[in-house]
Amino acid sequence: MEQQKKTILSGVQPSGQLTIGNYLGALRNWDMLQDEYDCLYCVVDLHAITVRQNPAELRRRTLETLAIYIACGLDPQKNTLFVQSHVPAHAELSWVLGCYTMFGELSRMTQFKDKSLKNAQNVNAGLFTYPVLMAADILLYQADLVPVGIDQKQHIELARDIAERFNAAYSPTFTVPEPYMPKAGAKIMSLSEPEKKMSKSDDNPGAAIYLNDSRDDIIRKFKRAVTDSEMLIKYDTDRMGIANLMNIYSCFTGKDHSEIEREFDGKGYAEFKLAVGEACADGLKPIQEKFAMLLENKDELEKIMISGAERANYLARKTLSKVYRKVGFYQVKS
Ligand code: TRP
Repeated sequence: MEQQKKTILSGVQPSGQLTIGNYLGALRNWDMLQDEYDCLYCVVDLHAITVRQNPAELRRRTLETLAIYIACGLDPQKNTLFVQSHVPAHAELSWVLGCYTMFGELSRMTQFKDKSLKNAQNVNAGLFTYPVLMAADILLYQADLVPVGIDQKQHIELARDIAERFNAAYSPTFTVPEPYMPKAGAKIMSLSEPEKKMSKSDDNPGAAIYLNDSRDDIIRKFKRAVTDSEMLIKYDTDRMGIANLMNIYSCFTGKDHSEIEREFDGKGYAEFKLAVGEACADGLKPIQEKFAMLLENKDELEKIMISGAERANYLARKTLSKVYRKVGFYQVKS
């Protein structure tokens, strides 16, 4: 029975804080996957150092990232939650796959081009080979599906190409993964520029609501959210500011757009924005409480890390030894 479940793998960078965009668009829906699929979620600390990190902060955020996933509803008994650097096979497979990835392919990655512009003083080789490591993350676990945002689709396509190339050169070794974009996820836009996606790395802290923002901050940010001068609470995708607030309100209250229109018929933006802020703060409160509780018990979190890494190591080793055998590395029984 266990083996028949499809495998889902996703990676998350321990950099920056998660926003309600990450939560409403992805994380919130992941607990629905945990029974139907075999799910693995990896905190990708190896990827994080492709840009300069403060070591103490990286360490802290790695733990916090694990905690936020659990606080958002991922059950560590049902999902394998682990840290990438705890499973050496990621780096090992990455080397091998790098020898089956072309310079030209990596040069065409839009994320590499964007990040090289942003970090012009540190265009390191890791930044360039980042997608190979990501392919290793996915292929090690024979993942069928990879839930990611649209910006990561090109990386999944490369992982597919690498898998197919390796399978064709030897014999079927890797499951060829597919991107998975659940329909349920809402796309949440920036509060200051509602044509842009809400991003955790926005320079303007007022543009995003972070999962651990205080109630006051949340209400203040919604109060200042950019809308228009029509003063009409009606769902219209040409008026992204108000449409975005309605989507957020809908996610937190379960009310649909027409219910919201009725609720705020004849009322002003100020009243509506306050209601959105309160609904969001109320919705995040249980997550924030669980997060704080989890961080108080670091031993428990470390136990989860250890058992996640144990299972991940077991699965990853199986794939890696297959790969080593196929490419012709001399194997001795120890
Ligand atoms: N590159 C992904 C991002 O920035 C993170 C990531 C690393 C990832 N390895 C992964 C996502 C494997 C999915 C699967 O969002």
